[in-house]
Amino acid sequence: MAQRIVTMISEAEIAKRVKELGEQIAADYRGKNLVLVAVLKGSFVFTADLSRAIDLPMRIEFLGVRSYGEGTTTSGVVQITQDLSRPIEGEDILIVEDIVDTGLTIAHLLDLFRTRRPNSIKVCALLHKPSRTRIQVPVDYLGFTIEDKFVVGYGLDWGEKYRNLPSISVVESE
Ligand code: IMP
Repeated sequence: MAQRIVTMISEAEIAKRVKELGEQIAADYRGKNLVLVAVLKGSFVFTADLSRAIDLPMRIEFLGVRSYGEGTTTSGVVQITQDLSRPIEGEDILIVEDIVDTGLTIAHLLDLFRTRRPNSIKVCALLHKPSRTRIQVPVDYLGFTIEDKFVVGYGLDWGEKYRNLPSISVVESE
């Protein structure tokens, strides 16, 4: 079946929102020990842009996760495939996620990081699909709320494809 890529959120809209989020985060974290934790792979593009929109000194860490699930749904079982390179005790952790869907991944990561005694821990997600929530998680900084459609681009994939699309898009079968 042929596929059509339909833009949901344009490159310009994303850039505008990322700039706003960066300014808000910079205002909130002035004087703190900010560590951005990019959840791989999906948030690599968002983290690259967001970090450059935050005019503050920071550390950037990468966390590899694999979420077991069938096709486009997650099971909530999250495996850490690459851990942080350093302890986070006493630091101000901002988890950067591409999308909060069921909330299970973020809930798991919050539980995990809390055991490492950071000074604070918050969540920044580019996208949120509230209609799919299975566990309520705090999203302290949010780019866009979207309807229940499977989206690709700007780091998000469908079977490892489409991560390099500059916009957030929906794949439609024709
Ligand atoms: P959650 O644990 O259900 O909140 O899902 C988290 C992960 O599922 C995200 O970090 C994405 O990697 C993946 N995911 C959920 N929805 C989508 C989507 O619409 N497109 C691409 N990946 C998605």
